[in-house]
Amino acid sequence: MNVSVDSLTITVAGGRKLLSEVNCLVQPGDMVALMGPSGAGKTTLLNSMVGRSIMGSVSGGISYNGKSLGTVRSNIGYVTQDDIMYETLTPRENLSFAASFILPKLGKAQQKEVVEDVINKLNLAKCADTVVGSPGLVRGISGGERKRTNVGLSLIGKPALLLLDEPTSGLDSKMSDSLMKDVKTVAEQGCTVVATIHQPSELVFSRFDKVLLLAGGQTAYYGPIKGLRDSLSNLGFLCPLGTPLPELLLDVLEKPAAGADREEHEKKLINLRALTDSTGKDTTVFSPGGSEMPAARRAGFCKQLAILFQREAVNVKRNKPLTVVRAVQSIAAALLIGLIFVQLERNMTSIQVRLFASFLLVFAQFMFAILGVANAFPAERAVFLRETQDKLYHPAAFYLAKVAIDTVLQSLFPILVVAVAYPLIGLNGESADRVLWFYFIMAIVSNCGAAVGFMVSAAVPSVTIALSIVPGLVMPQLLLSGIFIKVEDLVQPFNALSYLMVARYAVQATVTNEFSCSAKQDCDAQVWRVADPNQCSASPCDFCCTAHEKLASGGICPTLTCDDALRFLALDEIWPSGDTHEETISYNVAALLILLLFFRLQGLNVLMMSYRKATTGRCLPCRFSRPAAVNSEVSV
Ligand SMILES: Nc1ncnc2c1ncn2[C@@H]1O[C@H](COP(=O)(O)OP(=O)(O)O)[C@@H](O)[C@H]1O
Ligand SMILES: [Mg+2]
Repeated sequence: MNVSVDSLTITVAGGRKLLSEVNCLVQPGDMVALMGPSGAGKTTLLNSMVGRSIMGSVSGGISYNGKSLGTVRSNIGYVTQDDIMYETLTPRENLSFAASFILPKLGKAQQKEVVEDVINKLNLAKCADTVVGSPGLVRGISGGERKRTNVGLSLIGKPALLLLDEPTSGLDSKMSDSLMKDVKTVAEQGCTVVATIHQPSELVFSRFDKVLLLAGGQTAYYGPIKGLRDSLSNLGFLCPLGTPLPELLLDVLEKPAAGADREEHEKKLINLRALTDSTGKDTTVFSPGGSEMPAARRAGFCKQLAILFQREAVNVKRNKPLTVVRAVQSIAAALLIGLIFVQLERNMTSIQVRLFASFLLVFAQFMFAILGVANAFPAERAVFLRETQDKLYHPAAFYLAKVAIDTVLQSLFPILVVAVAYPLIGLNGESADRVLWFYFIMAIVSNCGAAVGFMVSAAVPSVTIALSIVPGLVMPQLLLSGIFIKVEDLVQPFNALSYLMVARYAVQATVTNEFSCSAKQDCDAQVWRVADPNQCSASPCDFCCTAHEKLASGGICPTLTCDDALRFLALDEIWPSGDTHEETISYNVAALLILLLFFRLQGLNVLMMSYRKATTGRCLPCRFSRPAAVNSEVSV
C-alpha cells in the first residue's frame, strides 16, 4: 500500500504542536524505520495513520493508495506498544480467534494452517499453549512472547500496511533481529511497513529501507538508509567509524548548548532536512486511484456473534475463580440474611420484617451484580477497543455475546440465594408458584444490576473510577424503593425518580408474592380478631397478633389474612397494581423487564460512545492539502 502523509500538523490545547508539517510518501513494500527521541511524536504519527486517539486540531492529511482511511482500514495491521490480548487465553487461541474474525472465507483447517504458520514464523511454538497471563498477577508467557503474539495478531490478516510501535522494546537483540527478519519477509511480499524503533542494532536497522527521523514533531530526515552515513559526513556531522548508524542519527538530533556550535548545528540540520525534501519529492509515482486492493472481507455479523460467544464462554470458563467467588458471595449473603431473619413467626411484627427481608435480598442481589461486572469489564475494555478499531467485529456483536453469557450467569446466582434464604427465613412456600416467582424476580434484579454495572464500567477507563461511581447508583435504590418512606409520600423529584428504581418494583413484586395466600375458610375474622393471643398456634388464619400487638391495636387484631398484611404495609395501593395479586406481580415484573431492556440498550449506547471516542470522530484524510488535480479521487 502506498501511504502519503501530507503536511500533517496536530496542535493540542495550549498551541503545542505534536506534529508539525510532516510529509512522507511510503511506497508499497517499503520498510520504514520511524526514529526519534522519546516524545518526538512517533506514536502520535502512527496513531494518526490508523485514525486512533487523535487529539486537538488537525491540518493536512493522510491518504492510502489515494483513498481515505475508512476504505482501507481493514487492510491495516497495527501493533501497539502495549500488548493487548485476552489474558485468559493462550497465544494459539488468541491467534485462532483472530483468524476466525479476519479470514471467515477460509475453512477451519486453512485457518489453522495460517495460525500455525504465524506461530512458527514468530517462534511461538514453545509457548503457544500456555495461558498469556498478566504481568505481576497471573503467571503466563514471557514479555517477549507476549510481544511476538501481539505482532502475530496483526499478521494473521496479511495486511497491506503494517504499523508497529516499538516492536523490539523488551526483546533481546537476537529476538529483535529474528522478529524484524520476519517483518522484512512480510514487507518483501508487498506489505508496506512502518515501525518505530528504539535503539536498534546495526543489523536490525539494516533491514529497513528508509528512515523517518522525527524531532519535536518535525521531520528531520526522511529518505533511504543507504548512503545516509556518507550524506551525514558530507554535511559535516561527526561520524566516527564504529559508531552504529542508528546511534549517529540520534546524536545528530541532539542540539549542543547555546553558542556558535548550536548555530552551526542548526544549519547542518536544515541541510539534512533539505535532503529529505528532495528525496520526498522525486518519489516516482503518486497514483490517485492507487493500485486496486480489495478491502479485506471480515466475518458477517452473525458469524462475529458466534465467534464472540464462543470466546466469551471460554473466557468465563477460564475465569472460574471469579465465578466461584461470586457464587460463594451469593450463598454467604443469603445465609447471613437467612440466619438473621431465621424462621419468622406469623405475627404482626413479622409482616414488617418480611418486607425488610425481601428488600435486603433484592438489594444484595442488585449490589453484587453491579460490583461483579464493574470489577470485571475494564480489563476487557482495552481488548475490545483494539479489536473494534481493527474492524474485527462490530461493537454490537461484542455486546450481544457478552450480554448473552452474562444473562446465563446472572440467572444462576439467584438460584443459590433462593435455595438458601427462602426456606431459612420461612418465606411464603404455599405453592411452587410463589418460589418460582420469587426466583424470577431475583434473576431480573441480578440482570438489572449487571446491566447498570456494565454501563458504568464501559463509560469509564478504570475499575477505580467505576467503583467510586457505584455507591452513587446504589444509594437511590435504597432510599427510593418505598421501604423507609412510602413512594407516594416522597416529595418531588424523588417521587418521579422512584419510577426508575429497580428496587421499587422488585420489592413491590416480592412482597405481593409473599402475601399471596389462598383464602383460609376456617379463619373466622369475628372470632380471631379478638381471640386470646395464647391460642395463636391453633389459628387457621395467616397471621395472628401477640398480646402486645393486640393491646396496641385497641384489643382488635387488625391483621389476620395476607390481604390485611398488604393493607397494613400500604402495599395494596401501589403502582402498578392489577385486580389480582398475580396481575400485580406480573405488572411489576414487566416494569422490571422494561428497566432491564432500557439499561441494556444504554449499555450498548455507552459502549458505542467509548468506541467512537477512542476511534476519534475525525478522519484525517478529510482535510487534504493536496491540489485537487493531483489527487482527485480522495474521498471527502
Ligand atoms: N493528548 C495529548 N495532549 C497533549 N500532549 C500529548 C498528548 N498526547 C501525546 N502528547 C505529547 O506528545 C508528545 C509525543 O508523544 P508520542 O507520540 O507518544 O511520543 P513518542 O515519540 O515517544 O512515541 C509527547 O511529549 C506527549 O507528552
Ligand atoms: Mg511512543
